Amino acid sequence: MRKYQEMTKSELLKEKEQLERRYKEIREIGLQLNMARGKPSAEQLDLSMDILDVIGKEDSLLAEDGTDCRNYGVMDGLPEAKRLVADMVDCKPENLIIYGNSSLNIMYDQVARAELFGVCGNTPWSQLDKVKFLCPVPGYDRHFKITESFGIEMINIPMTADGPDMDLVEKYVNNDEAVKGIWCVPKYSNPQGVVYSDETVRRFANLQPKAKDFRIFWDNAYVVHHLYEDKQAKILNILEECAKAGNPDMVYEFCSTSKVTFPGAGIAALATSENNLADIKKRLTVQTIGHDKINQLRHVRYFKNIDGIKAHMAKQADIIRPKFEMLIDMLNKEIKPLGIGQWINPVGGYFVCFESLEGCAKDIISKCKEAGVTMTGAGAPFPYGKDPKDSTIRIAPTYPSMEELRQAAEVFVVCVKLSSVEKLLQTSESTILEVEAEEVLQ
Ligand SMILES: Cc1ncc(COP(=O)(O)O)c(C=O)c1O
Repeated sequence: MRKYQEMTKSELLKEKEQLERRYKEIREIGLQLNMARGKPSAEQLDLSMDILDVIGKEDSLLAEDGTDCRNYGVMDGLPEAKRLVADMVDCKPENLIIYGNSSLNIMYDQVARAELFGVCGNTPWSQLDKVKFLCPVPGYDRHFKITESFGIEMINIPMTADGPDMDLVEKYVNNDEAVKGIWCVPKYSNPQGVVYSDETVRRFANLQPKAKDFRIFWDNAYVVHHLYEDKQAKILNILEECAKAGNPDMVYEFCSTSKVTFPGAGIAALATSENNLADIKKRLTVQTIGHDKINQLRHVRYFKNIDGIKAHMAKQADIIRPKFEMLIDMLNKEIKPLGIGQWINPVGGYFVCFESLEGCAKDIISKCKEAGVTMTGAGAPFPYGKDPKDSTIRIAPTYPSMEELRQAAEVFVVCVKLSSVEKLLQTSESTILEVEAEEVLQ
């Protein structure tokens, strides 16, 4: 196989003809497949079914401190739930609030509260002329939707293999008072699977924000979601690093068990400094009398401790690892030698992020759609849904069965090739036209 870029026009035209034939055959099959859903498969969810049996009507619903979990109260979480989650995210139990079923919900509340009441006594963001957020891209579309919905201006920060471009982050945060936050997924990022390096975490902790109420929104959603036993990423503890750097209040860390047990029926938490906790609790007491303590108890009794979570996640990895490997193998064989796409081989998380030739992502996704394969919408991993290079495609391999994924990946590969050939032919056409025009002018 040769790189498409090295082929002559007639070679490309021949390749296009073959691909068009193949694409037509695929379309005629009438497939209905989906590589867009970043959610666990039924087989993964089956692993957690026993959690439903750990609390029956005969069982005690008293927490270890005697709290009757059937009743109101305990706004910030049971002590045993705090210990379990603290071990999961590597923080101290006293830095945690255990909330309800969704970490996204906590993030939304943090932004909403900052808008309405301000952060730790500072002016509410809604009373400022301009509020800006830094958005490492590609990133998680739902983060960007939150800031977009509050009218916050979002600024793209390119991702590198070590995390966000920290030179740019420092430039914005340390000089612009309107920059109030940054969205981060520090481990197995959505969608690239990037793990922030120690240097990146330290540079975050050592930021010197121009705005007193600047906060890092550290979404550790994939903290225990390793694909390989022997390649488990470990990132520095951001709360400790911030405290060491004299910036103890600069970070809110989020996590949940959504993709550990059941999405929508797990437990979610926020870890932060004492000052921030006090600031949040002042408002939270107005918002709720307490979250679902029975579910907290259920999670504690099911997992017992962090080793229980680790063993459970190893079983999840056994189910999804072959899917990631099959997809990566196919990309390695079919796409890499042609020079028409790039990706990072993830060792954790839920996604593979494919970078096509510039200007091809929308077309590839629409070709896939026509052939019966739904992909995440083009542009979704960018603020305002705008991918400046139109090249990023998020692939979610966990939900389909192995066989469905194989078929979907085959379709994807054909669409990538066809779209790339068309793009290169177009470019060569325009180059030829430009050369001809220049010749005429001379
Ligand atoms: C980075 C990231 N954060 C948060 C969430 C949602 O978390 P939760 O279910 O706890 O609201 C997801 C789900 O895909 C995610 O990818």
